[in-house]
Amino acid sequence: MTSSASVCTDMAGTIAVLTIINPPVNSLSANVRRDLVAALSRSVINGVTGVVIAGAGANFSAGADIQEFTAGLDPTAPDANDVHAAIEASPVPVVAALRGAVLGGGLELALACHGRVADDTARIGLPEVKLGLLPGGGGTQRLPRIAKPMIAADMIASGRTLAAAEAMAAGIVDRLGPDVMAAARELIAKLAASGQTATAKRPPLSGLVEAIETARAAIPAKSPHADASRTALDSMAGAIHLPFPEALAQERRLFLGLMASTPSRALRHLFFAERAAANATGVDKTTRARAIETVGVIGAGTMGSGIAMVFANAGFPVTLIERDPAALERGLKRIRDVYDRAVAKGDLSTSQAQQRLADIAGRTDMSALSHADLIVEAAFEEMAVKLAIFAELDKLAKQGAILATNTSALDVNVIARSTSRRADVVGLHFFSPAHVMRLLEIVRAEATDAQVLATVIRLARQVGKTPVVVGVCDGFLANRLLYPYLRQVDLMLEEGALPAQVDLALTGFGLAMGPCAMLDMAGQDVAWHVRQRQLKDWNPAMRYSRLADLLVEQGRLGSKTGAGWYRYAAGGRQKEDDPAVEAMILAESARLGLARRAISDEEIVRRALYAIVNEGAFALADGTVQRAGDIDVAYTQGVGFPAARGGPMFWADTVGLKAIHQEIVALHAGGDANWTPAPLLKALAESGRSFGDLDRERQGA
Ligand code: COA
Repeated sequence: MTSSASVCTDMAGTIAVLTIINPPVNSLSANVRRDLVAALSRSVINGVTGVVIAGAGANFSAGADIQEFTAGLDPTAPDANDVHAAIEASPVPVVAALRGAVLGGGLELALACHGRVADDTARIGLPEVKLGLLPGGGGTQRLPRIAKPMIAADMIASGRTLAAAEAMAAGIVDRLGPDVMAAARELIAKLAASGQTATAKRPPLSGLVEAIETARAAIPAKSPHADASRTALDSMAGAIHLPFPEALAQERRLFLGLMASTPSRALRHLFFAERAAANATGVDKTTRARAIETVGVIGAGTMGSGIAMVFANAGFPVTLIERDPAALERGLKRIRDVYDRAVAKGDLSTSQAQQRLADIAGRTDMSALSHADLIVEAAFEEMAVKLAIFAELDKLAKQGAILATNTSALDVNVIARSTSRRADVVGLHFFSPAHVMRLLEIVRAEATDAQVLATVIRLARQVGKTPVVVGVCDGFLANRLLYPYLRQVDLMLEEGALPAQVDLALTGFGLAMGPCAMLDMAGQDVAWHVRQRQLKDWNPAMRYSRLADLLVEQGRLGSKTGAGWYRYAAGGRQKEDDPAVEAMILAESARLGLARRAISDEEIVRRALYAIVNEGAFALADGTVQRAGDIDVAYTQGVGFPAARGGPMFWADTVGLKAIHQEIVALHAGGDANWTPAPLLKALAESGRSFGDLDRERQGA
């Protein structure tokens, strides 16, 4: 055995087995590429009859080291194309043994080999477009020479990952079996007998033109990586009409263009921000998590039934509690309806749906929770109700059970203090609909135990949610930052804008939904309750618009009542402008003596989003949130902020904090305390730093 830092060479008879060792996912960083080329040439010089490339641990390779794209590529190391050229020049067959993640550059490496074997753990794909990139190591050229064109074009444009059997059917994998090493040896023997052909020397499979056009037409217009998908297909088209080296050069050029683009920088930022968000102070990968095998959910309303599905979908047995049998039945019916629709749409098989339903047991007696490892309370949003439930849980839950509340606004510390086990209490704030939205705010109360946090963070990822750990405050993170945003919207309506213009300006920016339509959907009464609470100790220096209150007074609670900022036809599905709302807004402007003025879309976007950024800076300073990246994750996954802009704080960095701070100062000078500049924003702006810099400094500290 010979070994370099990141590639280990073992001999199996006359075959050299090159194992990539670069935990955690064997990314192909500069040292790996260098060591691979060296190990390959050493093997060939030593007269081996074949080479197997494998990955240490569970994964072959998750591809290029994404950090390198930001840090800068090492010009002294061989690039991916150099590694692939060395493989294709090998006089003996080189076979890739695929297990676990075979993604991006990992698959490109495998495609440059003369053959590929896999076991059924292999997940094979070119996910680069999801990072706003294209496969820049020959993937757009070699995949169409190996895989069925329709599948190849779809993989490249959508970033979809194939299971091993699918990859075999597509022609990517030559042999599938539980023992990849045995399969690799057999394939080498076969190739040695028949003679191997370098992938680059093969012609592209026929039907590529149609496949590219089909994949192009299937790119969703609103995809955050639509540009990358189109560019990746442009690169793939090079396989049809350009000689291989030229097509490769074109691919490289297009790749470098995308790498420098804002959407790619934004999507790469979110990739790491999502993973960093799983780290809370005092909690890391070594913190012991408690075992969670059974889950209880209290409350079978929309939220509770959604949460029950989240856990049942991930295979957890769930006990769903509702005191009133009729309400329980309604909750269970809601769940059945969701699963029925999923079966009708082909998203679930009948047996999967039945299994999930069977995993949810409805009960009217709280004592059914005495064995649950995690109990999530999703009852009526009133402190007295929650305190009564937690008092009961305190008596009946087993020792060590995690007691979570799904409150979206109440003080988790007060709830925790009401029990004799404050350390076991945590907030789990799901977003509606809970079984669909990926964001999960984990609310760390003053006494929440680190093990409890570690458990729910891991569990969140296990059930497909993106956890963001937040502190206790009004609105936690996502809603807290929305309050000043919504206030600006109302103030701009008073000053001259109308709901449709505000919504269009912000959806034009990329938000999934404008604020007026969003509140109509959520229910104007929900926001009204929040405002009433906040008005109790309102700072009179902060301008307040009563426009949204007027809506509620008129019974315009949003789509559910057929009218809110808009009026609704077709059972709430079709919205249209309402002259009555315009008249109400104009009358309010007149009552306030405001001369209405034209407000540009740019001003709408700036004012609405600067309000989020400023509040985000307050939240970063007071410890509600640890990283600016956490805010970006929460906003892209929970509030419909466009991922291609990286989240509000990343976007603010691209605008420049100096400019934003200056505008906020100017707005504040107008006398409205809503615009009190966050001291942290001021400090960053004055020192020429960004939120990204702040995160890096805090990480290094
Ligand atoms: N480059 C650099 N780091 C990578 C990486 C890559 N290609 N892929 C994963 N990582 C890191 C993650 O940042 C994480 O680091 P952390 O532990 O410091 O947070 C760690 O590897 C584990 O990744 P994670 O995603 O948390 O593990 P997982 O088991 O849930 O998923 C993968 C594993 C490989 C499926 C997933 O990481 C992935 O999809 N990676 C990206 C693959 C890709 O896009 N490749 C093309 C690159 S152009």
